[in-house]
Amino acid sequence: MYGLDPSEAAMAAASRFREVEASSLLELGAGQGRDTFHFVGRGFDVTATDFTDSGLEAIKTQAADRGSVVRCLNHDVRRPLPFPDDSFDACYSHMLFCMALSTAELDSLVAEIRRVLRPGGLVAYTARTTADAHYGAGIYRGDGMYENGGFVVHFFGPELVERLSDGFEIIDRFEFTEGELPRRLISVTMRKP
Ligand SMILES: C[S@@+](CC[C@H](N)C(=O)[O-])C[C@H]1O[C@@H](n2cnc3c(N)ncnc32)[C@H](O)[C@@H]1O
Repeated sequence: MYGLDPSEAAMAAASRFREVEASSLLELGAGQGRDTFHFVGRGFDVTATDFTDSGLEAIKTQAADRGSVVRCLNHDVRRPLPFPDDSFDACYSHMLFCMALSTAELDSLVAEIRRVLRPGGLVAYTARTTADAHYGAGIYRGDGMYENGGFVVHFFGPELVERLSDGFEIIDRFEFTEGELPRRLISVTMRKP
């Protein structure tokens, strides 16, 4: 759905993760794996999760075709992450945080990411922002969410970015665009102390 090439966010995150010598990487909302294989190609040991089986099947097929190893897991991020404490060096998530997840669900999700990251581990996430053309358009679903074309998006403003950084140190943030709308996004990288 989002093309075959890795996103700008994945390329930036891979460089950041390398700086802290990350190896084990948890990807949340991997979709059909356009970014998954960018990380695999750079030597990361990737666990890819999504709650859609079709995407995970596409990743498994591609992994088999390429002779790569990717652990795939169907998981809904509204539930606790099924991994032990301190089990990943890094976590990456592109455009999952801005899906139909309430602020309370996002709070729980970042707490879970913090739990499964090792001390010093990094999380890089992206989300569509309140500068996006779809913000304020369509049907308002409450809690900063708007529905356009049957698709609910939670648009991020600076307050939400700050709120989700609780217990982390923000080490990098930048805005970028993607696609034809274009979608307006923020990328945030945070370190677990
Ligand atoms: C906008 S797509 C981005 C996919 C991929 N990261 C990319 O950039 O190509 C969001 C992804 O999050 C997944 N997703 C949405 N809500 C989810 C949830 N509650 N738990 C797990 N995955 C979810 C969707 O299935 C979809 O694959």
